[in-house]
Amino acid sequence: MLAKKSNNKQNILEVQDLSVYFETKRQTTKAVDHVSFSLAQGEILGIVGESGSGKSTLACSILRMIPQPNGRLVSGSILYKGMDLLTCKNINQIRGKEISMIMQNAMSVLDPVFTVGDQLMEKIRVKSALNKTEAHDLAIEILQLLEFNRPQQIMNAYPYELSGGMRQRILIGLAIANQPSIVIADEPTTALDVIVQKRIILLMKKIVRQRNISLILVTHNFGLIWELCDRALVMKNGKIVESAGVLELYRQPIHPYTKALLRSIPTFDTDPLTPLPTIEEEMNDSTAWARNHRTATADHYTSFEKYTGYHV
Ligand SMILES: Nc1ncnc2c1ncn2[C@@H]1O[C@H](COP(=O)(O)OP(=O)(O)OP(=O)(O)O)[C@@H](O)[C@H]1O
Ligand SMILES: [Mg+2]
Repeated sequence: MLAKKSNNKQNILEVQDLSVYFETKRQTTKAVDHVSFSLAQGEILGIVGESGSGKSTLACSILRMIPQPNGRLVSGSILYKGMDLLTCKNINQIRGKEISMIMQNAMSVLDPVFTVGDQLMEKIRVKSALNKTEAHDLAIEILQLLEFNRPQQIMNAYPYELSGGMRQRILIGLAIANQPSIVIADEPTTALDVIVQKRIILLMKKIVRQRNISLILVTHNFGLIWELCDRALVMKNGKIVESAGVLELYRQPIHPYTKALLRSIPTFDTDPLTPLPTIEEEMNDSTAWARNHRTATADHYTSFEKYTGYHV
């Protein structure tokens, strides 16, 4: 049976000074550049930033899935329950069980020739000692949790028989099947229309809250951050330029890049013929300064202005 976990707000993950570079013939890309952050038990943490800012590389690095052959771990540690995930020997036991991942494209993850039930049960049995009947019962329980009205019918269905939203819900099911402590979701709803997106995001929130699972949500969509997250990290050029509680981030963004990202969200008042503001290149220089300066005081603001020439 799926057990509810106890509430305890300790840090469950500590990423320290992580750098991951990609080496190609032409250049070295600093996809993740000296990044540090922590994740508390039960916390929902967003990672937001424009395309190419390093969000997926950071997310994949947590499970030591750095794309090869170009990717290279340059520095850092990722502590989970006192273990460094980057060097520990039993990473395969942690992947998919204690820390699991939800990818963007359900069709590339679900196997088209097996039923949903087969795939769910296999996922459960590979990482646990449950027999076939117990795994079946747990799979049904997971499908009910995912708000499928006829779970047995879904068990017998092949992925192509389901809608995009249903498939994405199955991916959430696969991710929570082994009662992980942490789920990492990389753009989990990008391919879906906004109505389905919202439903899935709220469902995901309900499930992780019920089970006290920590969630890392990677997205370029500030709307999702607002709906789902407790706190967010803003990434630009491989660095975290700002980290704050979601309410604080919306009410009082400090970094000009965060402000620019927020300004670029269209609203109902936006004139459809007026181009949305773009994000200015000059901000690049300000990233080092703004990192870890969330607790802004008058002094911070002054030195921020001196350093960047921006008025905040
Ligand atoms: N396998 C690879 N080989 C070389 N460069 C790569 C590779 N994967 C990513 N990069 C580069 O690393 C940087 C960060 O990429 P990443 O995919 O992490 O960004 P992202 O923030 O997830 O973007 P998106 O929002 O488009 O998914 C980019 O400049 C990208 O071109
Ligand atoms: Mg990505």
